[in-house]
Amino acid sequence: MLTREQNEALTRVEGEAPMGRLMRKWAWIPFAIPSQIKVGEAPLKVRLLGEDFVAWRAPDGRIGFIDRDCPHRGASMALARNEGCVLRCIFHGWTVDVSGKVVEALTHQPDPEAFAARVKVNHYPVREAGGLVWVWLGGEPVAEFPKLPFFELPEGHVWMTVTKAACNWLQGVEASLDSAHVGTLHKSWVPRQTEFDIRAYGSTRKANFLQALAPRYEVDRTPWGMSAIALREMPDGSNHLRATQYVAPYINMVPRAPYGNGSLFIAVPVDDENHLLFFGFFSRQDQIGLDTPRVAAMVTNGRFVLEDYAPVKAGREDNYGQDRELMAQGHHSGFGENLLVEDMVTQISMGPIRDRTRDHLSSSDVAIVQARLLLLQALRNDAEGRHPLAPADPRYLMEDAMPVDALAPPDSEWRKVLAGQRQTA
Ligand code: FES
Ligand SMILES: [Fe+2]
Repeated sequence: MLTREQNEALTRVEGEAPMGRLMRKWAWIPFAIPSQIKVGEAPLKVRLLGEDFVAWRAPDGRIGFIDRDCPHRGASMALARNEGCVLRCIFHGWTVDVSGKVVEALTHQPDPEAFAARVKVNHYPVREAGGLVWVWLGGEPVAEFPKLPFFELPEGHVWMTVTKAACNWLQGVEASLDSAHVGTLHKSWVPRQTEFDIRAYGSTRKANFLQALAPRYEVDRTPWGMSAIALREMPDGSNHLRATQYVAPYINMVPRAPYGNGSLFIAVPVDDENHLLFFGFFSRQDQIGLDTPRVAAMVTNGRFVLEDYAPVKAGREDNYGQDRELMAQGHHSGFGENLLVEDMVTQISMGPIRDRTRDHLSSSDVAIVQARLLLLQALRNDAEGRHPLAPADPRYLMEDAMPVDALAPPDSEWRKVLAGQRQTA
């Protein structure tokens, strides 16, 4: 059970909050999908950890990422003219280029060039990988860029989307670590997904979610965070095991059969009461996109906007647009657009920052408890000058971080089956 102070420490990221300070220097932060930053378009407004930035793409493909406020007198650079490699502030026309240099400061005489060269602009390194655009906000030294299993796949093998979630980031992380909700909240979608899995892979495992609603969890600490292994005992004595990889602090890779496939949930803190929830699939074997059956199986009405995949139609007073008629027709949740709207609505409905002192955690919440402990330990480690994941080796090991969905036959040892999946892959 968490105390109020622990809940604050885990959730608050703005200003001088220790978690926000830790996040800046812990990890690269995904902030967009590439389609949100196009050459020649308006600068993208980015808010992370309670601070505001803008990002734009130069014609040569490079991405500039700078503080939102113009270095002259603070007019918003979100309003700036995009002139290719530079943004031009609409107020007095100062320009800043993708490398963060002030190029023109025409309001100054004499020698505006020398004056411009002395102005310091906060700009931040950006990388693109795994269908995401990442930024490093932690200053020097810049951390090594992670190596995750969904990087370096062939073109079209990662499919990534994003939505804004009006609640604290930890609610997003915890929902992805909670395999127990799948068979209930997503009950109306599981048969569609099962049908797809049978057709594509001959796998009926998805249906197991409906049979065993209270998975047993085993949690292993790993060099990247933890591996949360949900075990569902089937009536025939076999064990359906699903190892979700939690790459602390905010990435979850949820397994999908066969080995080499996964779903991605990344809950990036915008500020204390909002996060970006990136969602996607990756596959070593297949191309994946909106037109593939795996994705189509979780959308009913065909509408799916990659840059805003789970718009919530109404506020709390109107139950977020829940459709009771749809429920009367047999739909479980009454949110029929796509599976992710169900996640979004349940997370938002807990309030902007869930008061975790009021939780009554059950045995299926083991992974959530362990993630909270890991993050509290990370804060302590940081305060004492250690790596947040100490004593674990902080290197990312690409192969070992792959999530696994496997069936351990009756009388087999599930740990051996888990290890075998990795070896034979
Ligand atoms: S405030 Fe931007 S140029 Fe003056
Ligand atoms: Fe979900």
